Amino acid sequence: MTQAQRIDGKAFAAGMTARIAAEVTALRDAAGVEPGLAVVLVGQDPASQVYVGAKHRATVAAGMRSFEHRLPAETSQTVLLDLIGQLNADPNVHGILVQLPLPAHLDASALIAAIDPSKDVDGFHVINAGRLATGQDAMVPCTPLGCLFLLQDHLGDLSGLHAVIVGRSNIVGKPMAQLLLAANCTVTIAHSKSRNLAALCRTADILIAAVGRPEMVRGDWIKPGATVIDVGINRIPDGDGTRLVGDVAFAEAGHAGAITPVPGGVGPMTIACLLQNTLTAFRRKLA
Ligand code: GUN
Repeated sequence: MTQAQRIDGKAFAAGMTARIAAEVTALRDAAGVEPGLAVVLVGQDPASQVYVGAKHRATVAAGMRSFEHRLPAETSQTVLLDLIGQLNADPNVHGILVQLPLPAHLDASALIAAIDPSKDVDGFHVINAGRLATGQDAMVPCTPLGCLFLLQDHLGDLSGLHAVIVGRSNIVGKPMAQLLLAANCTVTIAHSKSRNLAALCRTADILIAAVGRPEMVRGDWIKPGATVIDVGINRIPDGDGTRLVGDVAFAEAGHAGAITPVPGGVGPMTIACLLQNTLTAFRRKLA
């Protein structure tokens, strides 16, 4: 079987992070201040603990200040709204991120709506979603932005290509569609209720899997030569332990033109784009 090219998100993200760190150093030397990112984590979700830890380490490694707020699962909406108000007012905080998912008693939409849109480095506030959808300058959600960078790096101009996105979440699927539309792709958003999902995916020049189901996209869903971006990070049992797999059956995708591996594909790009958004928010405050 032919071998699909591996799209090395880890290496691309390392390059981005090095450029961001150099810029942070230059800004600190020139202005005597540095970007600050506040991350709010509520409860003990194991995957969120890992992601928040990785975000903290990357923030510090890039020379930025990291303000972590790890709160118990019982924390009330009022306490969180107060905290967000304080972070909005804090001049040392340029980016605010509330890690999702939140415990069921909390209203995530209301919390996101309370974040100052200029500090919304996740790009989840309706103001930023609306700006992105109407072609205005926006904070863009980190995971789809990272996917776009990998696609543009691998394919160059995306004009006229058919992109099929499997998954319609506010975090990935919908903003991914907006970004690819702005890049002149023909865009189809598919989801669990779509008819003939496999056949639909086979029409894709660019196939983006963002459903959160281990290896759901099979090899025969992929058109030969297509570029496949696997957003999934799923932990599955493996012998006595576990291992990470994506939403695409990687071993069946040898006929793709290129594919992102899991891990080492999209995951590192999400964090690099978070640093980039934090730097952007900081620069706008300096200007
Ligand atoms: N949970 C999964 N992905 C994300 C993300 O990009 N941002 C936040 N805040 N929570 C998430």
